[in-house]
Amino acid sequence: MAERLFVFDTTLRDGEQVPGCQLNTIEKIEVAKALESLGVDILEAGFPISSPGDFNSVREISKAISLPTICALTRAVEKDIDVAADALALAKHKRIHTGIGVSHSHIYDKLRSTPEKILERAVAAVKYAKKYVEDVEFYAEDAGRADNEYLARVVEAVIKAGATVVNIPDTTGYCLPSQYGEKIKYLMEHVDGIHNAILSTHCHNDLGMATANTLSGVINGARQVEVTINGIGERAGNTSLEEITMALRCHKHLGIDTNIVSQRLIETSRLVSNLMNMPVQANKAIVGRNAFAHSSGIHQDGVLKSRESYEIIDPKDVGVVDSAIVLTARSGRAALHHRLHLLGFSLEQEELDKIYAKFLNLADKKKDIRDEDLLTLMGSKAKENMNRKVTLEYLQVLTGTLVPTATVILNIGGVSLTSTSTGNGPVDAAISAVKAVLKQKIVLQEFLIQAITRGSDDVGKVHMLVKKGNVVEHGFGANTDIVRASLDAYIDGINKLININE
Ligand code: KIV
Ligand code: ZN
Repeated sequence: MAERLFVFDTTLRDGEQVPGCQLNTIEKIEVAKALESLGVDILEAGFPISSPGDFNSVREISKAISLPTICALTRAVEKDIDVAADALALAKHKRIHTGIGVSHSHIYDKLRSTPEKILERAVAAVKYAKKYVEDVEFYAEDAGRADNEYLARVVEAVIKAGATVVNIPDTTGYCLPSQYGEKIKYLMEHVDGIHNAILSTHCHNDLGMATANTLSGVINGARQVEVTINGIGERAGNTSLEEITMALRCHKHLGIDTNIVSQRLIETSRLVSNLMNMPVQANKAIVGRNAFAHSSGIHQDGVLKSRESYEIIDPKDVGVVDSAIVLTARSGRAALHHRLHLLGFSLEQEELDKIYAKFLNLADKKKDIRDEDLLTLMGSKAKENMNRKVTLEYLQVLTGTLVPTATVILNIGGVSLTSTSTGNGPVDAAISAVKAVLKQKIVLQEFLIQAITRGSDDVGKVHMLVKKGNVVEHGFGANTDIVRASLDAYIDGINKLININE
C-alpha cells in the first residue's frame, strides 16, 4: 500500500493574495466546498489578522467545512495568533500556521534581528499557538535560501516546542530540485525528534521548478505538500495541486499517494479559474485546454490506434471526457477517417484519399476544421449543415447608468428570431438575449478578453469555452467593440456545439 502524502491547499491564502484574484466570502465557501470534495486534507482559509474580510472568511469556512482541517496563517506575533484562534473557533479540525523568516536576508534586512532572537521568537510563537490548538504548523520563511545548519536548529527547536508540522518554504522559488531535495534530506538526517513532526514542502514557481522541487522534497522525506489549484499564487505562483497528484499517480513506483479524487480536477480548476478571473494557459499540464488535444498527424494516428502511445494519463482520470483529435492542416488520414466515421461515413481507401486532398486544401485556408466543413466536403447533408448555422443579424446594447439591456436578432437556418434581455453588464445582457432565443442549456465555462495593443481604440480578442452536456467547445471573436467580440465568440462556440433541430 502506498504511503500517505497530506495535501495542504493554499488556494484561498497564497493563491488569493494575487492581485485581481480576490474572492468574497460566498465565493470562498464555494471554492472550499469544491476542495473538500476534491479530498484535500488541510485547507488554508486565510490570514485572519490581515483584514476583517479575511477574518470573516476563515470563520465562515470553519462553519461550512467538516472534513479537512481548517488552517489560518499568522506571523510569529501574539496578536496574530489570538485573532487566528478566534477565527478558527468553530472549525471541527483546526490548525494555526505561524512562522518567521530564517534566511540571512530575512533575519538581518527584513526583520533587523539576529539568528538567536529569531530562534527565540519561533519557539515562543509555537508555544503561544499551542495554548489554543493542538495542531500547530511552523513555517521557516525563505528556508530555500537559508543556511541548512541554522535551519536544522530552528526546526529542532520548534518541534520540541510542540510543532506538529514544519513547513520548509522556498519562498522566492530559488532552489534547484536537487538543492531542495538535499535540504529536506539534511533535515531528516540532522534534526533530533524529526519523527515527531511532519515536514512540509511549500515551493514557488519563479524558475518554473515548483513541481519538480516539491517532488524532490517528497522523495527525500516530506509528507505534506502545500499547493494551489492551477498553481496560482504570488508572482509566478505556487506548486500546482493537479501536477503533484498526477505525477504521483503516474509514478506509482515511488509508493506515495494522496487522497485526491483526481476525476474532480478539471471541474475544480475551472471553478477557481472562473471565480478568480485567472485564465488557465491552454498548454498548462493536466488542466489546460490542450492538455489532451492532439493535432499532428503522427500523434493522432498513434492515439487512435492506442491512446497510450501519446498519452501518459487517461483523460477520464482527471475529469476530461475524452482526448480531442483536432483537425488541422497537420492532421493525417487516420484522424480524418476517424472523424468522418463518427459522422456516419465509412470510406474506402480511394475515396478517403480524394477527400483528404480536399480536406488539406481547406485546412490550409481555415485553421480549425469543424464537422460542418466535413459534411460540406462530403457533398452531403449540406442542407442540414445550413440548418445548424447561427448568425448574428442585429445587436443593440443600452448601457451606462441604465440597467444594461441588449436586443439581438439571430438568423437560425434562414429564420430570424429576436430577443431582448437585461444583465449585470452589456456582455451578460447580450449573451442572455442569445440564450433566450436558443432555449438550450449552454454553460459559459471560461471567458478571456485580451486587448492587443492596449490603446482604447484597440481590437479586443475574446476566447470562450462553452459547454453543452459533456461537450466543451472553444469560441473566438475579435472586434473593436468588446460586446460584439464577446457575442461573436459565444456564437462561434455554440455553432460548434448545437444542433438547432434538437
Ligand atoms: O512562501 C512562503 O514562504 C509563504 C509562507 C507564509 C508560508 O507563503
Ligand atoms: Zn508562499
